Amino acid sequence: MKKIVLVAAARPNFMKIAPLARELHKHKDQVQCIIVHTGQHYDVNMSDSFFTQLEIPAPDVNLEVGSGSHAEQTGQIMIKFEKFLLQEKPDLVIVVGDVNSTMAGTLAAVKLGIKVAHVEAGLRSFDRTMPEEINRLVTDSIADYLLTPSKDANEQLLKEGIAEDKIVFVGNIMIDTLVRQMDAARQTLYYERLGLKPREYVLVTLHRPSNVDDKDNLETIIKVLGTINKSKKVVFAVHPRTRKKLAEYKLEGIAKDLLLLDPVPYNEMLNLTMNCLCAITDSGGIQEETTYLGVPCITVRNNTERPVTVTEGTNVLTGNNTDMVLKAFEKILAGKWKKGKIPYYWDGKTAERIVAYFRHKN
Ligand code: UD1
Repeated sequence: MKKIVLVAAARPNFMKIAPLARELHKHKDQVQCIIVHTGQHYDVNMSDSFFTQLEIPAPDVNLEVGSGSHAEQTGQIMIKFEKFLLQEKPDLVIVVGDVNSTMAGTLAAVKLGIKVAHVEAGLRSFDRTMPEEINRLVTDSIADYLLTPSKDANEQLLKEGIAEDKIVFVGNIMIDTLVRQMDAARQTLYYERLGLKPREYVLVTLHRPSNVDDKDNLETIIKVLGTINKSKKVVFAVHPRTRKKLAEYKLEGIAKDLLLLDPVPYNEMLNLTMNCLCAITDSGGIQEETTYLGVPCITVRNNTERPVTVTEGTNVLTGNNTDMVLKAFEKILAGKWKKGKIPYYWDGKTAERIVAYFRHKN
């Protein structure tokens, strides 16, 4: 019996863990799947609601690290995860995405000689001021199996001198969850319950430190949203980090006409994404989900680690430049946005390919 550990940690991880847990469960006579939640995200809306809606088995272990500075959080995860690994001695650890827990989990396992697979390997923003970029670089340089979501990621890893036999193009795991949850998302009737009409509102999320931790940047974006709100209702699902900053910088007043929501559970969020006129975001996941759904996406960043959403999908980068955001929005209003297409292997079968890969390896 093989033991495989799935590391779950923060909101964007859960939709990537869910299809893997389900697929591994199909082989439960050969594989024991252990879910470790590091506790990086702990609010009901940032964590528990995803386990419930996506039917992820309850974590076998919760390391309960909570929030902290990068070093504190990373260090705590490594210390606690190492203890767990020494006890359980798994055959493989699977990490996903680019959060602090991804890197910390990889470091702890690799140093104990335990094999690590990184799902969503090879993505680069080339912006080392982003904490996630550091997490991606460290994780990919030491993990044993680099499972990529798009072909550009393979090319990037080869450029970085990673051995070709470590790299496997498996597709985009997030899309597995999106495809599975579409019906449940429709059934929430969430936009209707908020009193919104399809394609008549703009969906917003913001949580990158570069956008929300800096007062001027946050103020600029909130003002642009205020302008947009005059023609289409702005529905803003506010991350806890952003909520704190809006209060700290006293920007709640200028945000008061927007429809501010607390973090929204997965199905409700997908319902909003499927039916919005466009998204304005700095999230990686929403850039991908809108590309899959063919919904226009304005990304208020100067770079993206998911270039395929720009080259093939419906995404455009504007930074937080007021003119560029407004010009992009005008184009959407005028119906002149690019159509985009769904990238190869964003087909709902990525978890199947990953599990098949490891089964045939042994
Ligand atoms: C983390 C990830 C980021 C990901 C994002 C999605 C890193 C470096 N960043 O950023 O890549 O896109 O998750 O949400 O790993 N908080 C709560 N409740 C929670 C979790 C956080 O209130 O359940 C608040 C705390 O004040 C905390 C702050 O949010 O200090 C930031 O949380 P943290 O996990 O450090 O980073 P995120 O901004 O969520």
